Amino acid sequence: MPADKQAPDPIEQNRARWDEVVDIHVKSDFYRVAEFKRGETSLDPLVLSEIGDVAGLKLLHLQCHFGLDTLSLARLGARATGLDFSSKAIAAARHLADETGVEARFVEGRVEQAPEIAGTDFDMIFTSWGVLVWLPDITAWAQTIARCLKPGGRFYIAEGHPIIWTLEDTKERYLDNLHVVRSYFLEGPQHWDDPRDYADPSVSLSHHVSNEWQHTLGEVVTALAQAGLRIDFLHEHDRLVWPGIPGMERTGPDFFEAPKGAPRLPVAYSISARKV
Ligand SMILES: C[S@@+](CC[C@H](N)C(=O)[O-])C[C@H]1O[C@@H](n2cnc3c(N)ncnc32)[C@H](O)[C@@H]1O
Repeated sequence: MPADKQAPDPIEQNRARWDEVVDIHVKSDFYRVAEFKRGETSLDPLVLSEIGDVAGLKLLHLQCHFGLDTLSLARLGARATGLDFSSKAIAAARHLADETGVEARFVEGRVEQAPEIAGTDFDMIFTSWGVLVWLPDITAWAQTIARCLKPGGRFYIAEGHPIIWTLEDTKERYLDNLHVVRSYFLEGPQHWDDPRDYADPSVSLSHHVSNEWQHTLGEVVTALAQAGLRIDFLHEHDRLVWPGIPGMERTGPDFFEAPKGAPRLPVAYSISARKV
């Protein structure tokens, strides 16, 4: 087949979309960059209550986007490196570090390249909110984490619960007319064609196609365990940093939750593990 007729590489399509949204996100209210510049942390209270003390730790932040959380971890004393495959995100992260005077290293690459481009002697790996759907191979992801950590090193993730991807609601009221519209057990990639952006609904993206891979909670935990990590906790949560189920209500600067008194589903989870 001639090269121009080949199906586009799904990861490259995702990268083009992520490149396009960087400037939009930096300017958006969603990411609250002005507050960060004034000294506020971008880390939400759930993550802050679970990550433990990071001061002095050599820390790798996977899929760091434009570096807000990496720099917030650096402000807590971590010796932080952020990795992302978007060159635009890495450039914006370096710019933000310069502007705020917060010290951190930023490297460009795919997650599976982390051992080669970031290193293999980290005390801690951190990743959060909206990261795993972009990765085709969760086993390779867990093995990458194990390779990058020192023995005894810690891994932490906070992520949307995969159950939310199965649900859709044709009404905007919480749990009103809720349907299971997708299997929990899906082979990826699922192709989406949507020019809207979650941080700024007013924009229409020219890179409107994205490709996502579903990973069940069992697959994530099993991949980590089989890569040689011992799970310290797996917590499920009823709040999430985006409205994962239609009708979830904003309950503060960071979270969306079910309306008061309504039945609650697990919409997020977090895992802490240690390389044995
Ligand atoms: C939702 S964002 C990061 C989450 C972070 N909580 C945030 O909102 O800033 C997902 C990030 O993953 C990055 N990404 C997606 N696929 C990747 C891959 N295969 N390797 C490295 N980075 C990737 C994107 O560029 C994007 O910055």
